[in-house]
Amino acid sequence: MRADFASWSSAHQARFEEVLSGLLPQAGVAPQRLHQAMRYAVLDGGKRVRPLLAFAAGELVGAEESRVNIAAAAVEVIHAYSLVHDDMPCMDNDVLRRGKPTCHVQYDEATALLVGDSLLTLAFQWLGEHRLNDDAAQQLEMVKLLAVAAGSRGMAGGQAIDLASVGRTLSLPELENMHIHKTGALIRAAILLGARCGSDTRRGAVTAAQLDKLDHYGKCVGLAFQVVDDVLDFAADTATLGKTAGKDADNDKPTYVTLLGVEAARDMAQHLHGEAIAALAEFGDAAQRLRELADFIVLRKF
Ligand code: IPE
Ligand code: IPE
Ligand code: MG
Ligand code: MG
Ligand code: MG
Repeated sequence: MRADFASWSSAHQARFEEVLSGLLPQAGVAPQRLHQAMRYAVLDGGKRVRPLLAFAAGELVGAEESRVNIAAAAVEVIHAYSLVHDDMPCMDNDVLRRGKPTCHVQYDEATALLVGDSLLTLAFQWLGEHRLNDDAAQQLEMVKLLAVAAGSRGMAGGQAIDLASVGRTLSLPELENMHIHKTGALIRAAILLGARCGSDTRRGAVTAAQLDKLDHYGKCVGLAFQVVDDVLDFAADTATLGKTAGKDADNDKPTYVTLLGVEAARDMAQHLHGEAIAALAEFGDAAQRLRELADFIVLRKF
């Protein structure tokens, strides 16, 4: 019998914390302060939504968990680095993250910068050290996929659009483009990497058409994730979020709430949820975890 979603996700979260802790440089290894700050930024906090998406996609295709662990860890440390930099004074200037002082507050700005450099690099080190796919050419494609998702055509590019949009009113397509990049890109990559860990010669490949369906699911939940983040920034409180509520308004950021109003933004998230679920139709029961994660992404309170 399948475990309920809460048990499945908490078991993976607990297990994955150990995986991350083991993969990251230990705090006592030189340079200690940098390694401590890296561990501070990654461990002990966060919903681990991207890893859970990778595990769900991996389970869908019968991927080996040890392989998905590496893909999920690579995505999560890139996500953690993006948060460290996002919070710096030159970006969103935030002091609270995951219920703790932000990395540059707890350490200092230069260390926070280097934490980002080091986590991003470490992700790709892991992808070079561990086998994720029997087919080396496919593994190289996976590395490239994550690089594109993290870089100027993905998350970092989305962050650039975000910074350039302060004080401006964006059109709906412009806002969607920003969100699809700054947040959607890594979420999509997590799902595709999880699925591609199970797509190799021994297991029989996931078809390109199936990967397209999963990618469409990823595009929808990735955008929905940021729409909900905008809603929560407006509607939730700091204690629940573990980060400063109302920050988008303070920073004069265009969001789905400023453009559409909170109710229409919630409706938009619901619409994207429906489209995400529809993309999974052909997978039947095997995609149940991905459906549950889509539910979680739109219903979450933090
Ligand atoms: C926050 O991401 C930043 C966005 C991309 C919206 P999460 O809400 O996934 O943050 P954690 O990892 O759970 O702290
Ligand atoms: C962050 O968007 C996106 C990335 C970190 C790439 P936000 O600036 O809205 O994230 P929060 O609200 O600070 O978590
Ligand atoms: Mg930001
Ligand atoms: Mg921010
Ligand atoms: Mg936000």
